[in-house]
Amino acid sequence: MKENTIAPLGILAALADEIRDLIAALEPGAQVHRIGLRDFHQGILHGQPCVIALTRVGKAAAAATTATLLQRFGVGRVIFTGVAGGLHRDVRVGDIVIGSQALQHDMDARPLFARHELPLLGVDRLPADPALSEQLQASARRFLAGRASRVHRGLILTGDRFVGDAGTGHELRERLPDALCVEMEGAAVAQVCHEFGVPWAVLRTISDHADAQAEQDFLRFLREVASVYSHGILQDFLRRQVAAGDPYPMQQ
Ligand code: ADE
Repeated sequence: MKENTIAPLGILAALADEIRDLIAALEPGAQVHRIGLRDFHQGILHGQPCVIALTRVGKAAAAATTATLLQRFGVGRVIFTGVAGGLHRDVRVGDIVIGSQALQHDMDARPLFARHELPLLGVDRLPADPALSEQLQASARRFLAGRASRVHRGLILTGDRFVGDAGTGHELRERLPDALCVEMEGAAVAQVCHEFGVPWAVLRTISDHADAQAEQDFLRFLREVASVYSHGILQDFLRRQVAAGDPYPMQQ
């Protein structure tokens, strides 16, 4: 990429329902690049250069998409948006969680490394970019104004498992009591961004309570609410950035 080009914002989600309205809102003239079975939509979204892609589900799919996004499109920051299962008792369906940290709850290379530690990275909880997360939190609060739902900031768990039984949800709550919610991609995106030195944030709307009812709640929420929330919050976020002037670092 040429010098003095504004680095686009990368926006990722795992499922089409989570990202549909964002892709539809790209200004005319957006380009679609198909790489590694994924479509990368490159264009202008609410006045900002963005690249939007569907990761598909799970950590490997999310990591592969993120690596392509960083290397081929030179994005300056990455936001992952989608739904999650609530774990903490304060977190309700319809609430929004912004990750302060992300952890892979199924990473377990004991006895070689401590439980949850990412081998050879020497860390388990990856910290989200504070400024980006703060801006997203403010946008989420404005989006939810007048509704009963709340915005939380805290630990997000990621694993290659849909948590749809009370036993697994209970075990995660016991093992990681400060976790707010569980999903399947965030900490993998975080790991790749960490390794490339790119700021990241995860924004999740709670679709279910990671229990025996989770599958039905998840499917209904995904159809009816997920994309509206993702788009509503990111629209506010992007418009504020435009109003505040150029927020993006220039490419080296
Ligand atoms: N995403 C939304 N709900 C989830 C759950 N219960 N488990 C894992 N990922 C999810």
